[in-house]
Amino acid sequence: MTADDSLVHPAPDGIESRPVTTAARLLLGGPVALVTTSWRGTHNVMPLAWHMPVSSDPPLVAIAVEQSRHSVDMITHSEEFALNFPTRPLLHHVQYLGALHGDRVDKFEATQLETFAPTHVSAPLLVECAGWIECEVKEVLPLGDHVLFIGLAVSVRVNAASFGEFWRVGSREELQPLHFLGGHTYSTLHHALEARVPRDFEAPERVLRERLAGELELTQEARERREERLGALQRELDRGNVVDVSELEPEFVPEPDVTLDLSKGVILGGPSDE
Ligand SMILES: Cc1cc2nc3c(=O)[nH]c(=O)nc-3n(C[C@H](O)[C@H](O)[C@H](O)COP(=O)(O)O)c2cc1C
Repeated sequence: MTADDSLVHPAPDGIESRPVTTAARLLLGGPVALVTTSWRGTHNVMPLAWHMPVSSDPPLVAIAVEQSRHSVDMITHSEEFALNFPTRPLLHHVQYLGALHGDRVDKFEATQLETFAPTHVSAPLLVECAGWIECEVKEVLPLGDHVLFIGLAVSVRVNAASFGEFWRVGSREELQPLHFLGGHTYSTLHHALEARVPRDFEAPERVLRERLAGELELTQEARERREERLGALQRELDRGNVVDVSELEPEFVPEPDVTLDLSKGVILGGPSDE
């Protein structure tokens, strides 16, 4: 392609510049891990969002831990760590653990987290998690203000209700891993989308355009369904009934931006209950 080809357009509207440190936050959204470590009879646990697979054969994963963290010493000395993927019931524990320093506090005592035995490493594994990876450290790379530990996965276990071939999207919320977005904000997975690519003989441009049109129609349908359900909810409230939305599918639970008239009825189980 030449420099003056049709790909070079001015940036579309709505695009904003952000500080370059935001790069890390754009990359967030994976399941947050609780890194457990053990060394000379002491144990530690820290939440960690900066992780990634770096090789499938051998199965290597990388974690970036800020240099001053107690976990750096624990991992450096023991040459192993375990990644535990916490579920919804541990949401508040995860955030709290990020504010504690393992060199000053016994975090297991402070939080009374339940543990069970690992298979290969000595770091304890945490109950109420959806998956566990035990790792032996293969490389230690100090990079900027973090240390990158490359771990060889020596054992992987999952809660089969949370993970099949991949994370089970739409399973009960308490079984889902927590996805850290930054600050104090986490999310869980609700919708799986299946991508379909054009077959060899199909004109990709036309097929992709048709599929997009199909997707938009589906979105419109979902929106209409949601409005219908909210209308029914409002009618119940108008009759003065108590409405429990905790059993509704997530997409039908009224969001904070939806104004329902509560003057006659009462709504239970909504997001504001937490
Ligand atoms: C959700 C969450 C994700 C975090 N991710 C990382 C991370 O990827 N790397 C890191 O060095 N610190 C991360 N932190 C901060 C550490 O968990 C925190 O500094 C912790 O107290 C370190 O514990 P330690 O000193 O006992 O090792 C995160 C904190 C939270 C709450």
